[in-house]
Amino acid sequence: MISSKDFLRKNLKVIQGYPMINPFAIIWENMRKFQSKPDDIIIATYPKSGTTWISEILDMILNEGEIEICNRDFITNKVPMLEMYAPGLRASGIDLLEKTPSPRLVKTHLPIDLLPKSFWENKCKMIYLARNAKDVAVSYYNFSLMNSLNPLPGTWGEFLEKFITGEVAYGSWFKHVKSWWEKKKEYPVLYIFYEDLKENPKQEIKKIIQFLGKTLNDEILQKIIHHTSFEVMKDNPMVNYTHLPCVLMDHSQSAFMRKGITGDWKNYFTVAQNEKFDAIYEKEMSGSGLLIRTEI
Ligand code: A3P
Repeated sequence: MISSKDFLRKNLKVIQGYPMINPFAIIWENMRKFQSKPDDIIIATYPKSGTTWISEILDMILNEGEIEICNRDFITNKVPMLEMYAPGLRASGIDLLEKTPSPRLVKTHLPIDLLPKSFWENKCKMIYLARNAKDVAVSYYNFSLMNSLNPLPGTWGEFLEKFITGEVAYGSWFKHVKSWWEKKKEYPVLYIFYEDLKENPKQEIKKIIQFLGKTLNDEILQKIIHHTSFEVMKDNPMVNYTHLPCVLMDHSQSAFMRKGITGDWKNYFTVAQNEKFDAIYEKEMSGSGLLIRTEI
């Protein structure tokens, strides 16, 4: 029997060229063979891009703003994470998905080339949420302090170096956001940005509603905006991850619902780190056509 001691705070495992959370490797082949359903809705993000936020928005949309229904279960159960495997600490993504009634919301951080084939074959709806790299790096650093599925991050400076070179779980942020962006040319991925959602939730949530082919009135829309605001979500035990065992997520190290803002990177990056980051960013992102704001 595998015990949590065997996989907590362990080094990442390289799978198909990507550094990955150690225990996820155990079920990798089953995950790759996962059979989707045509009405599955994929929520894809690089870690720490606002996945929980958009997951709750989507659940609210599907349930037409009925808060009681949305509070039926924890976010980790309502919107299972496809590749999740942490035996003894969390139910696996595959097991949860098999029990979830359709239409299922499927969360994943997988890079585009690792997403199981079945989702493409079934032409599932896909929503990608991107967040600016600097705030993702800061959020990922703090998350690695509290989430023991990740290796310990070291100092902020050490973590930033690893983030830049893609030696963190799910690999390079640059590659992740660019490859999903490129896919838009041949597949109708709804690609949205954390910064836009923060600045104008009404406009962005309307885009999602339209993409899903739904119509919801203004009253419901306002309810969704309120229920999924950072202030409400951070105090909602169904979505703020406080239900998970402390050995897995230690909120005394950093809250999961930490700050929920754009621009916190300014409190972390030194001038030298920022200059180096900007130069690398320019090289990596030039020609991609992808513009992501670092302040709003
Ligand atoms: P910070 O660490 O910068 O605060 P994910 O769900 O992909 O793991 O992303 C977590 C990040 O999204 C955290 O960022 C968290 O605070 C932020 N977040 C969660 N819910 C949010 C909301 N309703 N509004 C804004 N940001 C939110």
